[in-house]
Amino acid sequence: PRHFALIPAAGVGARLGAGYPKQYLPIAGKPMVLHVLETFASSSAIAHVFLVVSAEDGYIRDALAAVPHLAGRVTVIYNGGATRQQSVLNGLHAIREQAGDDDWVLVHDAARPGLTVELIDRLVDALRDDPVGGILALPVVDTLKRAARDVRIENTVSREGLWAAQTPQMFRYALLRRALEQPAEVTDEASAVEAMGLQPKLVEGSPRNFKVTLPHDIALAELYLKGIA
Ligand code: C5P
Repeated sequence: PRHFALIPAAGVGARLGAGYPKQYLPIAGKPMVLHVLETFASSSAIAHVFLVVSAEDGYIRDALAAVPHLAGRVTVIYNGGATRQQSVLNGLHAIREQAGDDDWVLVHDAARPGLTVELIDRLVDALRDDPVGGILALPVVDTLKRAARDVRIENTVSREGLWAAQTPQMFRYALLRRALEQPAEVTDEASAVEAMGLQPKLVEGSPRNFKVTLPHDIALAELYLKGIA
């Protein structure tokens, strides 16, 4: 089976407050999404890269024009949805012609520019003969508190066995499509697969693969991408 990358990049990035979609925020000299595209494009494990952007996206054409070496490795799908889940599903429908049912799809957030080829390889290698698929994730290190209504601690949640989900999330084309077509709303692909009664594998990710969400995340992402952290 082949491995395809599918990158949902159709969000508006409201929490970042940049005035434009966060996937285009410049980090270490280029838009965040380009870091992700270049990493997947340079991975020998990945057959092709698909990027899902909003139908009204006015940034991607210029961004890609600056990286001509990616032409032929990346296909842009102008069909984002109202949610990340819908954007991924639209992408899966769009690649129906290219992807076989048993081919793997690695779904990765455009907002995780710290991904490396080594992390892609680690996930692909760990799931090579896996019947279900899996995700990169990190064991939780902080002590966890559940908040009550008045922002006081209701109780402490044991972090034993808890992992924080990252991406890529890697599943076979047919299974992933069936899982995401279920009506339940999910915030990642694994949850949809879990809802089918399956147990995706957890593969250790990296702190550098964190999701850029809030303004202070930008400086940290730059440290990782410039090789300082
Ligand atoms: O908003 P959040 O950080 O969860 O977004 C994760 C990824 O999903 C981002 O790459 C974002 O562009 C993408 N997304 C999308 N379509 C949406 C919402 C988010 O492709 N409607």
